[in-house]
This record gives sequence, structure tokens and C-alpha cells, in this order.
Amino acid sequence: MKILVTGGAGFIGSNFVEYMFRNHPNYSITVFDAMTYASNPETVAKFKGRKGFRFIKGDINNTAAVNRAIKGHDWVVNFAAETHVDRSILGPGAFVETNVKGTFNLLEAARNSGVKKFLHISTDEVYGSVAGGKSKEGDMLEPTSPYSSSKAAADLIALSYFRTFGLPVIITRSSNNFGPYQHPEKFIPFFITRAMEGAELPLYGDGKNVRNWIFVEDNCSGLDTALHKGKPGEVYNIGGNVEVPNIMVAQAIAESLGVKTDKIKRVKDRPAHDRRYALDSSKLKKMGWKPRFDFFEALGITIAWYTHNRDWWLALKDKKFREYCRKNYKK
Ligand code: NAD
Ligand code: TYD
Repeated sequence: MKILVTGGAGFIGSNFVEYMFRNHPNYSITVFDAMTYASNPETVAKFKGRKGFRFIKGDINNTAAVNRAIKGHDWVVNFAAETHVDRSILGPGAFVETNVKGTFNLLEAARNSGVKKFLHISTDEVYGSVAGGKSKEGDMLEPTSPYSSSKAAADLIALSYFRTFGLPVIITRSSNNFGPYQHPEKFIPFFITRAMEGAELPLYGDGKNVRNWIFVEDNCSGLDTALHKGKPGEVYNIGGNVEVPNIMVAQAIAESLGVKTDKIKRVKDRPAHDRRYALDSSKLKKMGWKPRFDFFEALGITIAWYTHNRDWWLALKDKKFREYCRKNYKK
């Protein structure tokens, strides 16, 4: 099996490549990634030289590059995206460009090259905030941020390619992931690395927003299940075992790193901040998948990883990162 993995130099994509090489050693994997600010060359360096691995630096917005890269691949797994809600508030344009137009480019290339499966990676954020109960795959899409709206648009275009052109599209929508190789501007690694630096931990609003956290390895096993057993035209939720308010995550990180909890500072809330996400994953569970990691145990694994891989995240905390932080947290 030859798989083209877009966005494979990012957080979930790189964990997925590692997971697939471990569980399907005969597969060949090409990573196609634009290497934006969100990636780190060190993340893919470990795959270089591995049998079946290839890396192409390329942008999914570049039609010619996508058409060239897709040739000879059986399956496409599309992780490539702009992924940070806060950045989508500061500048929505790149989100429409990559998440909507880039996905469209890939779908077109897949249709023309006769790809046999197209797994499109989406998010629970397309359902919007859930006051009670859990989101099911058939629920209405009510995204609130430019990020989640661009992801919802891509989902609908991808499904239209199945319905109209018969392209075998499968969509997964996972809840918030955490684990090794996540960019240090995202909530959990941001708080871990800032706690290690002795800096303040800026918690939005009252800190009671709830996320349905999933350890990245559990998401990867869910993606593997959806890829091998999923039905074209279907959507599969991949949710974690727990719902945790942000304040509890912040406290757990501070305590684990021996930092006083008075380092946690309430700051002005994010606009349109979704209160709660919760996924019903029974559809994928019926196909044999279940999340295996306990949240606090996996948080411990993640904290240990950031403690032992300082150089990896320090390289990402460059001048541009500091500029972004100044803009985002200026209030
Ligand atoms: P990430 O930001 O860590 O990685 C994204 C990768 O895509 C980076 O390597 C980047 O260089 C690449 N990329 C960005 N624009 C590109 C372009 N135009 N062309 C080619 N490559 C490009 O993101 P992540 O957290 O690993 O998320 C991966 C996917 O999973 C995304 O589609 C995201 O919407 C989805 N998702 C993420 C989460 C989460 O909690 N992180 C939850 C649900 C769904
Ligand atoms: P984030 O990682 O941006 O994911 P999401 O896509 O769910 O918004 O943030 C997770 C939660 O943490 C979200 O409720 C916003 C909150 N948060 C903070 O309180 N402070 C921060 O500095 C960041 C980055 C996030």
C-alpha cells in the first residue's frame, strides 16, 4: 500500500506515520508538507532512511505540485491544515486558503489520478459548542471560529466528491489531541513549556471550558481503523474517554512540574470561545476501536516527553513565536 500523507510533518500527521510504520511495516509512506511555522524538520528527520519513506516539501495550494505528488499512491490521508483557533481569529485568510481551497485541490487531484481511498482529517469543532449530550456524525454543523468553519466547509466539499464523483472519501472528526510533537503554542504544550520556563499560564475566561481530550496514539489507532474498515461516504467521530475543564488541566500540569498554581492567570476570553465539545464515538467503537489511554497517565507521558525534548520545542519558540504571543496575549 502506498499512502500520501499531507501535513505529515505536523503533530498528528507525524504520530500517524510512526504508528503506521509500526503497525503496517510493509506500507510505503510519502509525507507531503509545506513545512509552515507549525512543523519542525526534526519531527520528520527520524523517518529519513527508513524503507518506504519519502518526503516532499510542497504546498497543497499548489495544484501542479499536488498533481505530481499524488501519482502512484493508492491512498491519501489529508492532515495538512492551518490548525490554531487563535491564529484564525488574528488572520482567517490562510485558513480559507489551505483548509478549503487546498483540500479542494487535493480532491481534484485524487479524482483525476484514481486514488482508491481519501481519508480526510476533520475535527469535533465543526459541530460547534455542545450544551448537553454528545455530538453524533449526523448532527448539524454549527462551527463558530474561522478555523472550525473552514474545516466544516472542507468536510462538505469532500462529501460532495463522494456523492457526485464517487471518490471514496472517508472523514474522521476527532476531539482535542495531545501528546509528543504538538506545537508549543497549543494549550497543553504551551502550559507545559511555560511552566518549565517559570512563566505565567494564561487561562482564557473562567477556565471552565470543557474539552474531550484524546491522547494522540488513541486517535492514530482510530484513524487506522477508519482507513482500513471505514465505508466511503461515511463520517467517524474519534473522541477521548474524558471531559476535562481547562482549569483542571492547568492545575495538573502545574502540580506535576512543581509550579505554584498562582502562576495560572485568568486572561480575557477568546471571542466565540466554544464552551464544551463532546463526541459520541459509538460508530467507530462498533468497528472494534476504543481509546486505551487514561487522561492523567497520558498527560504524564506528554510532560515527560517535553521535559526530555527541550531542544525540539525551544527551536520553535523563535522570534516569530514571540511576536505571535505578544499579539495574541496583549490584552
Ligand atoms: P499541526 O498544525 O501540528 O500540523 C499541520 C501540518 O500541516 C504542518 O506540518 C504544516 O506544515 C502542514 N501544512 C499547513 N499548511 C499546509 C499546506 N498549505 N500544504 C501542505 N502542508 C501544510 O496540526 P495537527 O494538530 O497535527 O492537526 C492535523 C489535522 O488534524 C488538521 O487537519 C486538524 O484540523 C485536525 N485536527 C486536529 C486536532 C488537534 O487537537 N490537534 C483535533 C481534531 C482535528
Ligand atoms: P486549543 O489548544 O487552542 O484548542 P481548541 O481548538 O479546543 O480551542 O485550546 C484548548 C482550550 O484551552 C480552549 O478552551 C482554549 C484554552 N486555552 C487557554 O485557556 N489558554 C491558552 O493560552 C490557550 C492556547 C488555550
